Amino acid sequence: MQIRVVSDQPWSVRADVLAVPITSDEPAEPDASTLVELDRRLDGAIGDYRRFGEIDASPYRTALLRGRDLGAAWVLAAGAGASEAFDAVVAYRFAASLERRLAGRRVTSLAVWLPAALRARPGLSAADLAMLVARGVVEGAYDPALLYRTDYTEAPPQLEELVLIAPGADVGALQAAVARGMTIGEGARIARDLANRASNDVSPAALADAATDLARAHGLAIDVIGPERATELGMGMFMAVGRGSDNPPRLIVLRNGADGARDARGRLLALVGKGVTFDSGGISIKPADRMEEMKMDKTGACTVIAAIVTAKRLAPDLPLLALAPAVENMPGPHSTRPGDIVRALNGKRVEIQNTDAEGRLILGDALTYAERLGGTHLVDVATLTGAVERAFGKQITGAFGVPQSWYEEVAAAGTRQGERYWQIPLVEDYVPDMESWYADLQNSGPADGSLVKSGLFLRQFVTRPWVHMDIGGSAYLRKATAWAPRGATGVTHATLVELALEGAQRG
Ligand code: BES
Ligand code: MN
Ligand code: ZN
Repeated sequence: MQIRVVSDQPWSVRADVLAVPITSDEPAEPDASTLVELDRRLDGAIGDYRRFGEIDASPYRTALLRGRDLGAAWVLAAGAGASEAFDAVVAYRFAASLERRLAGRRVTSLAVWLPAALRARPGLSAADLAMLVARGVVEGAYDPALLYRTDYTEAPPQLEELVLIAPGADVGALQAAVARGMTIGEGARIARDLANRASNDVSPAALADAATDLARAHGLAIDVIGPERATELGMGMFMAVGRGSDNPPRLIVLRNGADGARDARGRLLALVGKGVTFDSGGISIKPADRMEEMKMDKTGACTVIAAIVTAKRLAPDLPLLALAPAVENMPGPHSTRPGDIVRALNGKRVEIQNTDAEGRLILGDALTYAERLGGTHLVDVATLTGAVERAFGKQITGAFGVPQSWYEEVAAAGTRQGERYWQIPLVEDYVPDMESWYADLQNSGPADGSLVKSGLFLRQFVTRPWVHMDIGGSAYLRKATAWAPRGATGVTHATLVELALEGAQRG
């Protein structure tokens, strides 16, 4: 897809569809005159439809109108809410919802008018808006039905051209931002495609193969650690989880930059993603209800693999690490049992109370290994708990971090990309609940405050600045929204890329 930014008037741009944002407040100049002229060229249809109630400013509400005296054949009037409330979250969703609204239609070129009022929002620069709209359109075109079906015709259109119309803007400055938005959007689609694939299709070895293909295609170094080396290295927690499965574990390590290299901030950021290709719970088996959703338990791994690829495309010399411990958690004669005691890579003895609290086991060893590889700042992404969905639902990612300044830096990157985080306190009070009679600690304790306890467990395996993102709720949708289909959302990918690129800026 080509993306162009133009400073023309919206009626002069040739496209199949022109999207016109409708805000609830009275537009100010110059947007007011632009709308009047657009409406005049449509024989007053926008005004008539609005009075009739067919066009409405409610966010993501849309109406399709036949174009008349315009360069575009069709006009998509799209609710954008109140200008006052228009932020990065709304900008991204607004753009993604345009693509989804056009599903099944024959569209190869889409033009989106960016009114001046929306290009001057506090905390959302014109460049950020252009980046988010480009990213939103690319991600909005994603449809998981295309993964396994060949006869599907209801997908959003795969565009040949996207035109962002910003009358009076410095077009050159916005062009770089849209290119970046498009690349980030393409990366999220890689993450979503991997995550949506079925568990009989993506074993730990298959995930490692997919990562190897991506590494070759983009010039990243890759090391895939199999069971023998993981055992030799002493990764007892990582090795405990996959024992019940015929599909052996793989620790996937992707790297950009030479050994010892640091980014412009003197850091080596390490992204660590939970890659449980299927989580049956193991011997502590899960109930059958919704167990099929546990193919999504590899989403963190898919996200960090995609994020390092995206960062490499945008900043080829940026030193960066991504680690994806991949295992299948199954019951079987060789499975780890509740009560088994293992030795973690960092030397701690851990009693496995509950084999369904497996994510923290593989992440703990991967975090230790990330530090050994020189990672100075760590971020892990994991579908770690069901509790985070009960607390926050699907639209917010729960997160922990130490020190607070590192958490805030990560959260700020998320805000710029329109992704929502809410911090969970890591209070020490619950540490005694994780103590074990036989070992240094156990992997689960009494269920109260289990979200906090999951963070306290992981913290035992890091010594450097670290943030944990629990995407147990936000990783995938059970039903579509206006801006996303069901299945993997790609959440946190954009935040991770944004965060990594901070290390490229001052170099
Ligand atoms: N992968 C699950 C968490 C999960 C459940 C994510 C449902 C998304 C939807 C994780 O491995 C798990 O089973 N966690 C347990 C932890 C408990 C045993 C301490 C949970 O959340 O119940
Ligand atoms: Mn589990
Ligand atoms: Zn799990």
